[in-house]
Amino acid sequence: MGETAKIILDGKTYEFPVIVGTENEKAIDISKLRAQSGYITLDNGFGNTGACLSAITFLDGEKGILRYRGYPVEQIAEKSTFVETAYLLIHGELPTAKESQAFSDSFTAHAELHKDMLNFFQGYPSTAHPMGILSAMLCSLSAYHPELLNPEPSPQEIKILAAQLLSKVRTISAYTYRKMNGLPFVPPRKDLKYIPNFLYMMFSTPKKEYKIDQTVVDALRALLILHADHEQNCSTSTVRVVGSSWANLFASISAGVCALWGPLHGGANQEVVEMLEQIKADGGNIQKYIDKAKAPDSNYRLMGFGHRVYKNFDPRAKIIKQKADEVLKKLGVHDPLLDIAMKLEEAVLKDEYFVKRKLYPNVDFYSGIIYKAMGIPVDMFTVMFAIGRMPGWIAHWKEMRENPDSKICRPRQVYNGKLQRDYVPIGKR
Ligand code: ACO
Repeated sequence: MGETAKIILDGKTYEFPVIVGTENEKAIDISKLRAQSGYITLDNGFGNTGACLSAITFLDGEKGILRYRGYPVEQIAEKSTFVETAYLLIHGELPTAKESQAFSDSFTAHAELHKDMLNFFQGYPSTAHPMGILSAMLCSLSAYHPELLNPEPSPQEIKILAAQLLSKVRTISAYTYRKMNGLPFVPPRKDLKYIPNFLYMMFSTPKKEYKIDQTVVDALRALLILHADHEQNCSTSTVRVVGSSWANLFASISAGVCALWGPLHGGANQEVVEMLEQIKADGGNIQKYIDKAKAPDSNYRLMGFGHRVYKNFDPRAKIIKQKADEVLKKLGVHDPLLDIAMKLEEAVLKDEYFVKRKLYPNVDFYSGIIYKAMGIPVDMFTVMFAIGRMPGWIAHWKEMRENPDSKICRPRQVYNGKLQRDYVPIGKR
């Protein structure tokens, strides 16, 4: 037996195996604790709970390290394509030229939506949030692919599911934008690659075809890659939890989109730009907002700062900050929000409250400024995040479903409600 951990409860000692990961991360396997002792562990927000073994992404929050299948995210963001990154995350290795071509071809084959699905978009009011539409549409795909709902899908079926979702999320997102703006749908083209095809479907008008801008394509490539996976975050854990009941991939991913929508998770990219706009409208008074976030009786938070895992810096934020600067310069856009963001970051990094709590800019802080420069409206920002995160969600669902030891996720609780009491009829309460 390797290293073990001892827990003493009511004077009795229990011994549990210590699991060591390939990066020497250590965990105590307490899965038999309750059966042996009657105790469970309590961990609010799962901050200290390992929910699975995973070989997809390695993250060291103290050192600011993020690697996909062993490759540093900095190298992938600089040199790889989004499609290649998706392949790497889902299948575990970088593809050969032949595999890469076949993977891209499968996206082309599955890019179009069933014509009946186009009617769904018309049913939404113009006030609908695009994340609500995206989640509903992704789940609705299940209705058009009953052949892919096998609760125990074969490797070939998982391949098709992945291609369906990766390709269609792009079409659905572009069509959502078109619907919101009262524009006709522009169908995907077979000759365009993943990102140019998305931009083409988003921005072509009946009179003018969108002209591909390499600066925009490259920035979007880097952004999507940097969002592609982040191990057991809130939305990915949601996908795993839903999928653990053997729910199909469409349903599991649709739930992940809903989890991502929240302002404490992916929804923060929209909130950041709205916060910066508010600061600008308020005369650029940064200190007022910092003080508001620090006030002991306030729930107000500076959006785009802080992270559950990164306590030094978020390596993705570093790259995105640089990209924001580059993209705005290349596109000749002067956005006063970038100036406010940089001043806010500078002030926060010097402020004792934020320093003490290790609150640094996260991935969402500068990404919105880039999306804005590309002409993407604010309420589509989290949809962009969802397109980027799709490979990670699929990879985790696949890893879980292929693991014969996976179990349905079913946490326990410590009940602190009323003790048993007798029902009182309505007139006597
Ligand atoms: N502004 C001000 N104070 C903050 C912030 C913030 N952005 N973030 C955390 N704090 C404070 C908390 O009030 C708390 O202070 P206290 O110790 O005095 O009570 C302390 O820092 C720790 O905060 P927690 O909420 O316990 O940290 P947790 O790890 O649970 O939350 C989270 C992380 C949700 C990201 C948080 O930092 C936050 O709300 N940030 C703003 C929203 C955001 O940018 N989300 C995107 C995260 S990245 C992503 O999901 C893709």
